[in-house]
Amino acid sequence: MNICIILAAGEGTRMKSKNSKVLHKLMNKSMIEYVLNASDSVNVGKKIIIAGKNKNDLENILSDTDVIIKEQKIGKEYPYGTGYAVSLALDEIDNNDNVLILTGDTPLIKGQTLKEFMDFHNKNNNIATVLTANIEDPTGYGRIIKDHNGNLIKIVEHKDCTEEELKIKEFNSGFIVINGKALKNSINKLDQDNIQGEMYLTDIFEIIREEGDKISTFLIDDVEEVYGINSKLQLSIAQEVLRKRINSYHMSNGVIMENPNNIFIEDSVIIGKDSEIRSGVRITGNTIIGEDCLIYGDTVIDNTKIGNNVTIKSSTIENSEIGDGTDIGPYAHIRPNSKLGKNIHIGNFVEVKNSNIDNGTKAGHLAYIGDGDLGKDVNIACGVIFANYDGKFKHRTRIGDNAFIGSNVNLVAPLTVEKKGYVAAGSTITKDVREGELSVERAEQRNISGWVKKKEERDSRK
Ligand code: UD1
Ligand code: CA
Repeated sequence: MNICIILAAGEGTRMKSKNSKVLHKLMNKSMIEYVLNASDSVNVGKKIIIAGKNKNDLENILSDTDVIIKEQKIGKEYPYGTGYAVSLALDEIDNNDNVLILTGDTPLIKGQTLKEFMDFHNKNNNIATVLTANIEDPTGYGRIIKDHNGNLIKIVEHKDCTEEELKIKEFNSGFIVINGKALKNSINKLDQDNIQGEMYLTDIFEIIREEGDKISTFLIDDVEEVYGINSKLQLSIAQEVLRKRINSYHMSNGVIMENPNNIFIEDSVIIGKDSEIRSGVRITGNTIIGEDCLIYGDTVIDNTKIGNNVTIKSSTIENSEIGDGTDIGPYAHIRPNSKLGKNIHIGNFVEVKNSNIDNGTKAGHLAYIGDGDLGKDVNIACGVIFANYDGKFKHRTRIGDNAFIGSNVNLVAPLTVEKKGYVAAGSTITKDVREGELSVERAEQRNISGWVKKKEERDSRK
């Protein structure tokens, strides 16, 4: 059986954070989840995470998976180090198992690479294989020390390196595949005899070699994939890599991007071809966008389903649905639970909340549509307010097809305006409007002739 162990108990002191290192997020997903997802590409029978103080948090995040979480006690009275961490999983391992060991702080690893790594190990009947890469500046990484035949002799941690060893550019990614028996035998012989006083997992290779077995290395070209995150600066660098990977994926699927360096799209988002996303847009959550859409300006879209041919300009849209051909913005806010049909126009400074709006309806300027059910081809003029809240309860406003709500109207809910009902500008409507009626609620206009002249005479006498 293949077993995967992910090390995630480390204190992560270099992160300078009160939160667990491996739970830090990149593109809104934690480091450890990226590693877990990549490990799905390898056929593993058991996944084990070594957790530390983050055990409860990890259990919560992974509650609906079959991952086994082992606790590594952290404190001065306990041993520390990657070797000790792996030793805590030994009771889960049989002699014939193949054990893939990963680190929780390397979120850029691709599933395909892990699969190739495992295949290489199996095809060559290796006892142990270390995934390595070359890097110009390997500061912090363990160095790969080889003999003149190119066989691995040992791995030396950066802090324990001699001057000569520091010059070696090939480093330990932290990813290993090893036979179960060899792992058990060697790990029990580890000591803490090094600069950091830790039980280094990397010391097992010298032990295995001394016992006559050969250790192989699997060198990958793309050093980015094994980038280990130990600080907040490295976190931001890795996030940048992920962001670019996601944007490249969309472009390869036919999405047009203007200035992709300034577009933030989470990997859960789906976008149809020939849709264009311009600079500054942020799309998150389970958002699905159709084809031929144009999304630009300072737009944020979260958890929303958008049809084809939709235009969105400088607007915020959350947990809603937008139908084909609709256009929104600039500066509109579509709040949760709104369902907009086709060919709708929601214009400048219009807020929509928990409302259903049917095809062809327009609200072009400065309106609040809250808890409304609007029919087809309704016109909501400038400054219309749905007064949906009585201080205690929310109420709905229903507006039938082809109704016309004039400018600066207050619709006090609960209220129904039937189809083809007209409401005159400036009215505050509290009673239902029947089909085909015009409703006017305001004092009748009076024009007083000669009033200005009288006022001027009065003023001149003062
Ligand atoms: C480790 C390797 C180093 C390699 C580098 C690659 C060792 C001794 N060193 O160094 O050769 O080049 O990764 O990124 O293995 N962890 C535990 N329990 C512990 C200590 C660590 O679970 O007691 C976990 C951490 O949470 C982390 C991983 O192991 O996910 C690696 O630990 P870290 O301290 O980051 O090791 P490095 O110094 O980076
Ligand atoms: Ca590390």
